[in-house]
Amino acid sequence: MEESKKIEELNGFRDLRIVDNFYQTSSFFPMPTTEIGTLNEAGETNLGSYSLCFPYYIAGKEYYAMLLCCRNSSNTAKNILRTGKCTINFIPDKRKYFKEAVRLGFPGETTEEKMKDCLFHLVDGKCAREHPEEQYPKIVEEAFQVFECSWVRELDGAENDQVQEEYLPPYHQFNGITSQHGAHFILKIEHILMKPKYYDAIINGVDARSFLTVPVDYGYRDSKNFWYTRFRRPIAEPIPENKGVGLDSVKYAASRIDPEVKFTDEACAMLVKVPRVFLNTVLKGCVSWAKENKVTLITEKEMQIIQDKRNKEKK
Ligand SMILES: Cc1cc2nc3c(=O)[nH]c(=O)nc-3n(C[C@H](O)[C@H](O)[C@H](O)COP(=O)(O)O)c2cc1C
Repeated sequence: MEESKKIEELNGFRDLRIVDNFYQTSSFFPMPTTEIGTLNEAGETNLGSYSLCFPYYIAGKEYYAMLLCCRNSSNTAKNILRTGKCTINFIPDKRKYFKEAVRLGFPGETTEEKMKDCLFHLVDGKCAREHPEEQYPKIVEEAFQVFECSWVRELDGAENDQVQEEYLPPYHQFNGITSQHGAHFILKIEHILMKPKYYDAIINGVDARSFLTVPVDYGYRDSKNFWYTRFRRPIAEPIPENKGVGLDSVKYAASRIDPEVKFTDEACAMLVKVPRVFLNTVLKGCVSWAKENKVTLITEKEMQIIQDKRNKEKK
């Protein structure tokens, strides 16, 4: 039998073997391109290229955090273990910038070697301005946004992790040294610094022209190349109509949420666009505002105050 005939198909899919670095060896996984700035022992900023860098705590904690997946022998990992500080610099889409990212992503070079002719320019961030007595990694001037971060050492008992030649078990689950060659860092976001054009777009609302050109990285493939796509204009897809809960459902839920706090029909009408899964949380938020403010009937006016307060908090 021919080899190809033996491959089993499952409703039009083939089952692919999952191997190390599955996100680039066993799949097509779109990723951001960032340069991570850290301080070496001489206090110079080292830039390393990193794509496995994603939001981790996004709400409901006392702080916001990113997660970085990193080889533990890299300059970046060593510097974070030592200093606990880094900057995540998001790079716009230019061929020469991606070429530089690939150069800065080549393993085994010292900070001095890789930063000697670096294309990117380094400048101080907000942490350096706020604490002139302390050293911080610089930020990349060409970046469109930068997250200044500090490593949350305490999570997963990683506070005693130190730079070593070789890392032996036991390993942590999700923070610090996590395997023989791997490290994960949960990074508290201290500041998000944004170029003015994109700052304005976020504050004033976006249209298709406000999105900047970002590369989408598909990683290192076939032991030869890093692949990435050039940017095209973004498209807005409206959320589905009529997916809200409907007035009757809001009224029903509102009437049962608390024995003392009631809602008028007009106030309920202001919640019809809330997805069903969030409705109880939103109603509970209204009730706790009402109790704090000694209100027993929520009308359109109170609902407006609550919504304004929420919008302000979001900003
Ligand atoms: C575009 C790009 C993305 C990369 N993403 C990662 C990553 O997410 N994690 C990782 O450990 N290495 C990643 N690498 C490889 C590192 O950049 C490489 O290990 C490099 O030596 C790190 O630099 P450093 O030693 O100065 O930290 C990436 C390389 C490139 C070119």
